[in-house]
Amino acid sequence: MRIPEETVERIRQASDILEVINDFVSLKKRGTNYIACCPFHNEKSPSFNVNPSRQIYKCFGCGKAGDAVRFVMDIENIGYGEALRYLAKKYGVEIEEQEQTPEEFLRQNERESLLIVLNFAKTFFQELLTDTDEGKSIGLSYFRERGFTNPTIEAFELGYSLDAWDALLQEGQRRGYSLDLLEKAGLILTKEREGGGNRKTFDRFRGRVMFPIHNVSGRVIAFGARILKVDKNQPKYLNSPETAAYHKSQVLYGIFQAKQTIRQEDVCYLTEGYTDVISLHQAGIKNVVASSGTSLTTEQIRLISRFTPNVTILYDGDAAGIKAALRGLDMVLEEGLNLRLLLLPDGEDPDSYVHKVGAEAFKTYIKQHSQDFIDFKANHWLAEAGDNPLKRAEGISDVCASITKIPDLLKRQTLSQRVAQVFHVSEQSVISEINRLLRKQQEQQHKDLERQQRNAGNRQQSSSNTSNSPSQPSLDDINALLDGFSIEDTPETEIENAALSAPNIPQETRQLVRTPLSYQEEECIRLLMNYGARELEPGITVCQYILSELHEIDFQTTPFNLILTLFREAYNRGDILTTNDFLDRQSIDDTLIQQQAINLTTPRYEISSGWEKHEIFVPSEEEISILADSAYRNILRIKKMLAEQRMASLQQLLRESGNQTPEEADQLLTEFMHFKRIDMHISNLLGTVISA
Ligand code: CTP
Ligand code: MN
Repeated sequence: MRIPEETVERIRQASDILEVINDFVSLKKRGTNYIACCPFHNEKSPSFNVNPSRQIYKCFGCGKAGDAVRFVMDIENIGYGEALRYLAKKYGVEIEEQEQTPEEFLRQNERESLLIVLNFAKTFFQELLTDTDEGKSIGLSYFRERGFTNPTIEAFELGYSLDAWDALLQEGQRRGYSLDLLEKAGLILTKEREGGGNRKTFDRFRGRVMFPIHNVSGRVIAFGARILKVDKNQPKYLNSPETAAYHKSQVLYGIFQAKQTIRQEDVCYLTEGYTDVISLHQAGIKNVVASSGTSLTTEQIRLISRFTPNVTILYDGDAAGIKAALRGLDMVLEEGLNLRLLLLPDGEDPDSYVHKVGAEAFKTYIKQHSQDFIDFKANHWLAEAGDNPLKRAEGISDVCASITKIPDLLKRQTLSQRVAQVFHVSEQSVISEINRLLRKQQEQQHKDLERQQRNAGNRQQSSSNTSNSPSQPSLDDINALLDGFSIEDTPETEIENAALSAPNIPQETRQLVRTPLSYQEEECIRLLMNYGARELEPGITVCQYILSELHEIDFQTTPFNLILTLFREAYNRGDILTTNDFLDRQSIDDTLIQQQAINLTTPRYEISSGWEKHEIFVPSEEEISILADSAYRNILRIKKMLAEQRMASLQQLLRESGNQTPEEADQLLTEFMHFKRIDMHISNLLGTVISA
């Protein structure tokens, strides 16, 4: 749903930055400004500054800066629209939503309806827990047994589902929620009756204590439910299925209750279960989440990285816990996060252990017993290997394999020394093992690429065989043909990578090599950065349009491709990045990218002769039609250039005609003609798009 521009303006006018920030941190007056300890990073003396006359804030420690809207977005980790709504509510500005198309309305509304019905269910389960005899005698007494206090039960919105077939179903229907909606929310189940007959509909959760699962902004998106009876035929925990509101691989239990503290303490504790999160929270250790119900996923790690780069895994000390920790280890490293691991004494999980020893002893235990991944793996291997030299070598290789996952070259280099010390071998042998593994991985990548390329080639051949009709290919055909194209360019080598990211290399040598395609890629990034969230037509943002058109296409110019990837990742999380994300986000520490972001969004974008030569003009893009036209042409040009690249390489092959049989040459020619047709078709399309 869109908020009209005038309303946005009114919200901005109404908001006072001091009031907005004071809701989260207490500000102290210092001269004309106000200061506090920064809520975005951990610090002891205040470097967070608010300037009421300019209505902006800036932290001189971590560099975060912006206006009231930006502050709300960052502190709550929500999008622009949601932040505006937050402020509108705070200042009583009414939002009349702009009209939507019927589809837009339905799509928006399906998710919203799910959230509404899930919220109803949550409240219903809460009431059953506290207001019914069954709830009190079974559910509440169970929570008491586990030591959960009332504030804890409220903070996690815990509840109880009656031991009956249709308690929720009845109440839901009485309130006017359709069976369809209740089912889509994962709250009820439908089964065909045996022997035909009519269908039977009943509650999914019955006679269980309920753990609502919240998204980052605190809305309930699913439930976990624990059984209380001993019943071998029932799972201990029953969870909501995947729904339009709940994608379990992207969710961390407890993130809403933990995020503020994660940011302050600058570390996130990762556990396995609902009760681990809740018990630690109650003990005052609030920066805890759980991957509950799934093994850790990359998306979950990325979610943590929005709040801190530091993760400590707290798993049970049993074999399953060690296995899970080892599995999660490489994934965390691969995302560039700093990792420590802690195994609890055998037979304990964080929940039981914190109850046993108390919060202070628990914290001390973490301090004294958590290890970095090298020590963790080394201990594991040395315990197993004993005097067996082969096993030791295997251990070294295994630790080195984890090191190769770390994206940061410098971090990687400093670690080889540690491995050498821990395993009592020379640093040189460790370095050469790391290099051997890196080479092996690169060879593997190469093979994978070649295979993909071959497959892509086969796809193209088979589609060119079937499309013998003289009719012109449609845009869909073009898309199908161009899928997988980007893999033409060679993978970056370590050295190239290093050259791009190493901070100490002089600017001149970091200049981009400009190909015509790179200008179009840059244009595409410019459109994304400046207009990503703008709607080309109702419900279709510039970001969505471009990313879907570029589906499976990667850019060939490294920094543009990095930026494109950031947009993709954010989009998959439901966010559209803005210039600010590139300017003030510390995680994007590549100066080349920041520089690009600044260049591309500087208000009066300079039109160099280079740009004119490459047919990129920058008319006033405030007009949606002009913006749409720019985006459409840009996509077509990129696709045209990819087709041309393909044609050039086919031509090259044809020239080396000595190597082919006449049939093969014929095949190449057919393929070439096919791309020629596509190329002409795009030219036609480009010719008929009226440029303003
Ligand atoms: N889990 C699940 N389904 C199961 C078992 C476990 O989804 N059948 C998930 C739950 O999120 C659970 C976590 O895995 O919290 C860890 O499982 P377990 O150690 O068995 O549970 P605890 O959290 O220790 O639960 P409790 O203390 O209530 O027995
Ligand atoms: Mn437990």
